[in-house]
Amino acid sequence: MLAWTTTPGAPGGLTLREVPDPVPLHHELVVRVEAFAPNPGDLAMAPTLPAGSVPGWDGSGVVLAAAADGQGPGVGERVLFLGLAGGWAQHRTVPHTMTAAAPDDVAWERLATLPVPATSALRALRRLGSVLGRRVLVVGATSAVGRMAVQLAARSGAEVVAVARDEQQHEALRGLGARETHASLAGVGARVHGAIDIVGGHHLVDAYALLEPGGTVIALGHAAGADEHFPYGAFVADPTTADRSITSFFLGTEPGLAVEMGYLAADRTLDVGAIDLRPWAELPSWIEAADRRPAGRVVFRVDHTDRP
Ligand SMILES: NC(=O)c1ccc[n+]([C@@H]2O[C@H](COP(=O)([O-])OP(=O)(O)OC[C@H]3O[C@@H](n4cnc5c(N)ncnc54)[C@H](OP(=O)(O)O)[C@@H]3O)[C@@H](O)[C@H]2O)c1
Repeated sequence: MLAWTTTPGAPGGLTLREVPDPVPLHHELVVRVEAFAPNPGDLAMAPTLPAGSVPGWDGSGVVLAAAADGQGPGVGERVLFLGLAGGWAQHRTVPHTMTAAAPDDVAWERLATLPVPATSALRALRRLGSVLGRRVLVVGATSAVGRMAVQLAARSGAEVVAVARDEQQHEALRGLGARETHASLAGVGARVHGAIDIVGGHHLVDAYALLEPGGTVIALGHAAGADEHFPYGAFVADPTTADRSITSFFLGTEPGLAVEMGYLAADRTLDVGAIDLRPWAELPSWIEAADRRPAGRVVFRVDHTDRP
């Protein structure tokens, strides 16, 4: 089969090569990959892999071989999936715990945008407990994860406070369910029950300062690539600041994501935003254009013409 393999010095650090078909473990399925949408995590991890590796976390496709342990979707089912490598290929293996069946009428490209961003947003929200009637802050709300967090929090009954530096996106964020929109955390007046922070740096510090007693910040992403410096007093507890916490998680090692992925795939009302669909031959040049990429999700359609 053909796969994009890590190649130091090549455009985008990748070359398309013939590689052996992947061999599944007992709990893994083999899928024919139809589409994938690179995430920041994929892009950060790819250059760190040994030469000849196949990067790629999530995507959509068709089951070619069911898991030997009998669990998960069966042969011929349309699926969306997540695994920590091997996705930028015509075929890949995925654990059944991270693979869900998808409805027939949902396009490959839409399914490919869901596994990492939407499942991360859902898992982050779960960590905040019940958000019904509570204020939930989403920092970096225009991001792929942030858009999902806004929508899922709103439908869970939260009063969503969205922070995004691009004010031109604020109306759209209100359309997704945000009750308040702000260009920076300085504009957020009242305290919040919980926060999902996708940006990090001073945003994380400021989000923590906005928590009610007992509140939690999920430090989900670090898009700003900046350090966090907490001033003296940030962790001094009094009746107005007690029992606040910061936590994090890594989606790739979260147990049992299949049920949530199935829920997200079947929900046609989630707005995944505009999709820029491209042939997979453009993957290296798109990676090379890192600083000049327009906002929005890019999905690559896998070419199977060399191997039907
Ligand atoms: N913990 C996990 O398991 C997990 C899972 C999924 C994702 N993540 C992480 O979550 C983050 C977001 O992922 P994504 O797919 O949603 O990314 P994305 O769609 O590429 O969005 C990145 C967002 O960060 C914002 N941003 C970047 N630098 C900023 C800065 N200096 N100040 C303010 N905003 C800034 C961008 O705002 P503009 O639109 O204004 O440019 C954009 O909204 C990444 O760090 C990713 O690695 C972690």
